[in-house]
Amino acid sequence: MGAGITEVFAKAGFEVHAVDNNEAALDRGRSIIAKSTGRAVSRGRMTEEEQAALVGRITYFTDPAEAVAGCGLVVEAVFEDLDLKQEIFKKIDVAAPEDAILATNTSSLAITAIAAAVSKPERVVGVHFFNPAPVQTLVEVVRTVYTDDAIVEQLVKLLKELGKSPVVVNDRAGFIVNALLIPYIGSAINLYENGFATREEIDATMVEAAGYPMGPLALADMIGNDVCLAVLEKLYDETKNRVNAPAPILTRLVIANMQGRKTGKGFYTYVDGKPSEDRGPIRRPMQSRKAELPDRLVGEYLNNCVKMVEENYASVDAVNTGMAEGCRMPKPFEVLKEITPKRVLEIVEGIYAETGEPGHRPARLLRQLAAADDQAAAIDELQASTAELHASNPRG
Ligand code: 3HC
Repeated sequence: MGAGITEVFAKAGFEVHAVDNNEAALDRGRSIIAKSTGRAVSRGRMTEEEQAALVGRITYFTDPAEAVAGCGLVVEAVFEDLDLKQEIFKKIDVAAPEDAILATNTSSLAITAIAAAVSKPERVVGVHFFNPAPVQTLVEVVRTVYTDDAIVEQLVKLLKELGKSPVVVNDRAGFIVNALLIPYIGSAINLYENGFATREEIDATMVEAAGYPMGPLALADMIGNDVCLAVLEKLYDETKNRVNAPAPILTRLVIANMQGRKTGKGFYTYVDGKPSEDRGPIRRPMQSRKAELPDRLVGEYLNNCVKMVEENYASVDAVNTGMAEGCRMPKPFEVLKEITPKRVLEIVEGIYAETGEPGHRPARLLRQLAAADDQAAAIDELQASTAELHASNPRG
């Protein structure tokens, strides 16, 4: 993520100081940027001169204090370890200029806990980018109870200048996108482990039937199984919803350092960056239930989207933008309109009846939408009213 974020800022013309532990790690970052910009050149999206200028705007450091001196914005993107993040924030709090914005790209940790480690927590904010950062336009800007509104405004303006679509949210486990995407991936992993279908069937079905850009197990490998596990654990801690409890196979892959693409092995084994045809970590199912997958996974996911709006955390527009621009998935409330709330309610009631899990209970708002005479108009009304509410009362 660090390399991707560096590329995004350098592409927009900013001088960027990239920092990592040692020269080997910096070399890895350099080669990720070379590969990504090289691909843009080969596809005619960037000239060789632009690529050289972009690369020339990046200076590499191994000392964080030296790197942040004189910077207006610091974006930290180390792995998901609160102690480490707090330690880094204490260092940059002293070394960065007093008026610098201090941002973290955490996927799962409470921004508030990171902010609490510094002398001026009001200048700490979350900037959550999505994989691959040069491609996905969404950035979640996460404010805490400390954050100064002027800093949020400044950051939103800057991100728009970079061509990104910032969505401002409060600090809650998973924010918008991870709170919706990772439980969907977690459910797919559970179904895989419980013998619903093979990994190939699960991934192909969600691409073909649901129109998602990639299957959930391939996506877990791309995001990193360690990151998926960290997000699920934080969601589980905060919600105590057992549906968010990670599947045993996910925890085992993480223990075995099979984190996906970055370690060469996860749900798939990667040879030259491509998944190979090994047997996979779970034995083949006795009887495939792949035909049930789209209803089951999409139904549960749409119910969670509706719950998030019902809980007043995000507007319909923010959820739509989040999933479309963070993950290139179809806009959930448009899918809901197409399938109809009534049908989704039937599906979710079926899942709830089978599992008995309170986390699978249909949202009250889903029932209301399903009972409307004109269900599409009810979704439009919800979209308009939540847009107005969130714009007029952003602190919520
Ligand atoms: N770096 C830079 N650019 C890349 C790239 C990378 N790693 N991977 C792909 N691209 C670019 C390509 O150059 C191409 O650009 P172009 O269309 O302008 O030429 C474009 O992305 C599409 O790439 P491809 O044609 O090679 O491949 P696909 O069409 O299959 O797209 C994908 C690949 C962009 C990865 C797409 O499958 C996708 O969007 N998948 C979903 C990814 C997702 O959900 N991300 C969010 C994960 S959650 C997260 O990151 C948050 C964290 O906290 C967990």
